[in-house]
Amino acid sequence: MIDKSILEINDLSVKYGKEEPVVKNIKISINNKEIVGIVGESGSGKSTLLRAILGILPGGSSISSGNIIFKHKNLVESSKKEWREIRGNRIAIIFQDAGRYLTPILKIGDQFIETIRSHFNISKAAAYKKASDMLVKMRLPDPERIMNSYPFELSGGMKQRVGIAMAMTMEPDILLADEPTSSLDVTTQAQIVREMMELRDNFNTSIIIVTHNMGVAAYMCDKIGVMRQGELVEWGIKDQVINHPKSEYTRSLLSAVPELGGYNIEEREKSNT
Ligand SMILES: Nc1ncnc2c1ncn2[C@@H]1O[C@H](COP(=O)(O)OP(=O)(O)O)[C@@H](O)[C@H]1O
Ligand SMILES: [Mg+2]
Repeated sequence: MIDKSILEINDLSVKYGKEEPVVKNIKISINNKEIVGIVGESGSGKSTLLRAILGILPGGSSISSGNIIFKHKNLVESSKKEWREIRGNRIAIIFQDAGRYLTPILKIGDQFIETIRSHFNISKAAAYKKASDMLVKMRLPDPERIMNSYPFELSGGMKQRVGIAMAMTMEPDILLADEPTSSLDVTTQAQIVREMMELRDNFNTSIIIVTHNMGVAAYMCDKIGVMRQGELVEWGIKDQVINHPKSEYTRSLLSAVPELGGYNIEEREKSNT
């Protein structure tokens, strides 16, 4: 297999206003089809890193050093227009509470079709088909019923699946996921994690998942980075990070995950059912 790098981040620092950077000299890379996990406690700079990659940092913040190379193009030096095109089409993001980004007064189908048609020049019928196919891929039974529902009629896990399905219909090269399962119960978390892995297999999507859960990262990721106070204190291939962590902090995170002997969310799930 060719190890094709799709995104490289070098020496990236981000600050809010005149404060010290909250993301400090980060260096990571991600290959085609790879799942990268960024783990760290609240406030360590994970969301800021993802927002920087997507070019959606809030006003007043700035990239104070570094490059974000997406397919040989430095996004930091790209025009706003170029970045917006990449953001809409090539890199997509899902948030912890994707349900919150659904419009409450519109049926899922209507907003889904509208989103698709703002990206692809296709008929409503074709967009409907694309949407319901993706809902099936996210293991939502009865897509017709989902398309006909208002957001409040769906559970948290279903809404999160709809959010991921919407992001995936853009057929992005990279899916950024900011704590996508944190607000869900353990069983639903495990299911969604597996569905994201299947999406990677089916669509060759690279995924960067931000999580404070080392167990989730250990289960689904090829590479793991650990952030602490804006710095990347650990970075490497999953097995290497789990079995031979370099930093004391990583070791403490690992020791807090009881099942990491065989990092096995699936078995935990089975024992729950
Ligand atoms: N809009 C903002 N303005 C000022 N400081 C911010 C803003 N957003 C985040 N921060 C600060 O940046 C640091 C990193 O935050 P964040 O990237 O949200 O961390 P995480 O996602 O790991 O919890 C924190 O100290 C936080 O207070
Ligand atoms: Mg965050």
